[in-house]
Amino acid sequence: MNELDSIGKKHGTDKVHHGYMVFYTRNFEKYKNKKLNLLEIGVYRGASLKTWEEYFPNGSIFGIDDGTLSSKDSIIGLTSGRIKTFIADQKNRQQLESAISGIDGLDIIIDDGLHFQEHQQVSIGFLFKYLKNGGLYIIEDLYPRVYNRGWGITTQACITTNVLEEFRSIKKINSPYINEEEKSYMEKNIDQIDIHYISEESIIAFIKKIP
Ligand SMILES: C[S@@+](CC[C@H](N)C(=O)[O-])C[C@H]1O[C@@H](n2cnc3c(N)ncnc32)[C@H](O)[C@@H]1O
Repeated sequence: MNELDSIGKKHGTDKVHHGYMVFYTRNFEKYKNKKLNLLEIGVYRGASLKTWEEYFPNGSIFGIDDGTLSSKDSIIGLTSGRIKTFIADQKNRQQLESAISGIDGLDIIIDDGLHFQEHQQVSIGFLFKYLKNGGLYIIEDLYPRVYNRGWGITTQACITTNVLEEFRSIKKINSPYINEEEKSYMEKNIDQIDIHYISEESIIAFIKKIP
């Protein structure tokens, strides 16, 4: 078992069960002892924030959650040590902006929030410019390219996985949820996208910004 699997298991994050830790390890090793700023969308009970706090001994760990699954008080109550949490809806650009306004650049952003396509795309469209050059933007629990789970299909038409795959082939961001300015910024600043298809329920993308 690798280090992130064992720290993640101790704190109870489902990233272990999804099989994501091997990919996190591959991408995060170079940051291990760096003084870094990491933001995760989707806090729940804080398991992943505690995992990152333990793995990155010099990291500042920020979390955003709108309080859908845990109360807003319990989200804010997770602020301690090197962890700081904020209440914000990941689909609301103004709320995202006020949450991260005091942070001096982000090295890593992880989206483990609602996993709806619009939410994922609004968040990356808005937040990508706050990522430092060479930084990593990660989206967990992407939908398969052909969506066949049956629920939410009418509002889930534009699948994030396809937006990312299309960028890989034609270098264009084609999304109804990302505005023109954001699209152009992403097209100029995405260096590389790796998508790992572990299973239908476990698809994760690592999007690297140009150094
Ligand atoms: C899968 S849980 C996060 C788990 C956590 N990252 C971990 O590994 O321990 C998803 C979280 O996203 C939050 N969420 C749902 N909709 C959201 C939204 N629109 N904006 C921000 N967070 C949202 C939920 O309240 C929930 O706590």
